[in-house]
Amino acid sequence: MGKDVIIACDFNSTEEVFAFLDKFKDEKPFVKIGMELFYAEGPAIVREIKKRGHKIFLDLKLHDIPNQVTKAMKVLSNLDIDMTNVHAAGTAAMMEGAIKGLTREDGTRPILIAVTQLTSTSEERMKNELLIDHPIDRVVMHYAMNAKKSGLDGVVCSPLEAKKVHEICGNSFVTVTPGVRFADGEVGDQVRVMTPAQAKEIGSDYIVVGRPITQADDPVAAYRRCVAEFVG
Ligand code: C5P
Repeated sequence: MGKDVIIACDFNSTEEVFAFLDKFKDEKPFVKIGMELFYAEGPAIVREIKKRGHKIFLDLKLHDIPNQVTKAMKVLSNLDIDMTNVHAAGTAAMMEGAIKGLTREDGTRPILIAVTQLTSTSEERMKNELLIDHPIDRVVMHYAMNAKKSGLDGVVCSPLEAKKVHEICGNSFVTVTPGVRFADGEVGDQVRVMTPAQAKEIGSDYIVVGRPITQADDPVAAYRRCVAEFVG
């Protein structure tokens, strides 16, 4: 899997996302489309961005009974996306169902990754509300292993977890890591952050970067800086 910088296009309309992407004249960044933009604009936004030549990570985090996930993934496979995801908490049967639905007739499919525990779920909440009585890092690694056994390609994880995921699941198991900030930049609401250079150092395969690029005075320069630091 190639190392790449994925820009989180957390905009809520076609106009805003195109105004942003129009700034890129010489490169076609890999972009992440999340629930907000997808629910606002529908599949058309995916087709439009794809038509412009971008790779797309469709971040919809599916979590339902296996049959529904298989059918939903079949629809998404027709959108020609490059990466998408599910919640590992949906169990192996659901993850296997996701792969089944996502695999096209010619045998190809987008990269499929799993969300383990959301970074917004603290160990305390996991214990008190979800009744999961193990240390959170153990849960994250166990979910990552379940995803691997189910045939998925990798996980979304914090940059701090990427190294351990590779140790447990192997180096070819993809780690996609948000929570990236420039050394001299604002952290915002992210808590556990790493610079693109540090994320490279610990072996992340893809970094997901939103505001440090989308809110920069010069987004193209910020993107290039990320690529220079992370891909080299
Ligand atoms: O703007 P920022 O760089 O913080 O954006 C990070 C992106 O990664 C957002 O789209 C956010 O939803 C996503 N993300 C995250 N933490 C996770 C999973 C996804 O920040 N654990």
